[in-house]
Amino acid sequence: MGKNILLTGGSGYIGTHTCLSLLENGFDQIVVIDNLVNSDLQNIRNLENNFGIQIKFYESDLNDIDVLRKVFSENSISDVIHFAGLKSVKVSVSDPLYYYENNISGTVNLLKVMREFKCYNIIFSSSATVYGETLENPINENVKTAPINPYGRTKLFIEHILKDIYDASYPNENWSIIILRYFNPVSCSPLGILKELPKEKVGNLFPAIMDVYDGTKSHLTIFGKDCATIDGSPIRDYIHVSDLADAHVLSLKYLNNNSNTFEIFNVGTGKGLTVREIVDIFSETVGKEIKYVVADRRAGDAEISFASPEKINRMLGWSAKYTVAEMCAHCVSDSK
Ligand code: WQD
Repeated sequence: MGKNILLTGGSGYIGTHTCLSLLENGFDQIVVIDNLVNSDLQNIRNLENNFGIQIKFYESDLNDIDVLRKVFSENSISDVIHFAGLKSVKVSVSDPLYYYENNISGTVNLLKVMREFKCYNIIFSSSATVYGETLENPINENVKTAPINPYGRTKLFIEHILKDIYDASYPNENWSIIILRYFNPVSCSPLGILKELPKEKVGNLFPAIMDVYDGTKSHLTIFGKDCATIDGSPIRDYIHVSDLADAHVLSLKYLNNNSNTFEIFNVGTGKGLTVREIVDIFSETVGKEIKYVVADRRAGDAEISFASPEKINRMLGWSAKYTVAEMCAHCVSDSK
């Protein structure tokens, strides 16, 4: 059996876009494990049909360690890209134990089985929410982490688990670990074969704008009018999901060329835009006004959050290619 790449949570939004980027870069031995709690198999099947390959799929939760062992025993896994995890800030606040069990226990199981099968390469899907409401912008990897909700804490705890494993340097275990802290992933591949099919709407901005664009909602609510920004609405660093997917492929190549690695990268464009600027660009790009009302900021929402991508530019040669206008255009072309 050749070397396979395991994507946990690989049937989800970022997972399937990363599968696409892997396939476009010649990595065609992909295995996916996903419990389908927030995705379905449509996108995986689309990829198989488009590339004429088979993606081995296991429907399971990472808390079922027997299935995890089955995945590793049936496939020679060389690298793991770990997406699997719940990601709703709101739900994490109302049901933290569910989040800790799913996100952290699942990860511990994964790492245990990786050790059993001598697989020591992992890329972890983390999040800018580990920075909480920092005032330091642009945010580089040395900025203090201070998550303000259980979801963000699960991401940071997992980062610490990975660092502790790396520092333990278990004899004869050459762990290579890359942590990617995503800023705001949006849009979808212009290829048009991947649909955003979340089973739960978590209130993100671009899906909310799309609800107005396609008539599901009459208007958007912009949360924030008193931020220290040009128009009072919050600033974020929106990154095209295809650019984010490419960062995973470059990370994989880096891991395989640099053993005994531990690196954290902020993955963002380095440009921050306010919500109102996004709405204006969206309206201009698609030629349709997006009506909105303005309300108070959501509890826990940072006023300003955008990345410094200097380190990932320098070490992986990665930078965002797509503009915000292209992000908006690809959203609309996907919805047709
Ligand atoms: C962006 C901006 C809202 C909806 C979340 C997760 C984070 C990460 C990225 C996974 C904010 C404003 C939104 C709306 C609005 N995901 N907004 N009206 O909150 O930056 O981060 O997604 O890692 O973990 O927390 O993203 O898209 O929800 O909001 O005005 O209807 O848009 O207030 O300023 P956020 P978002």
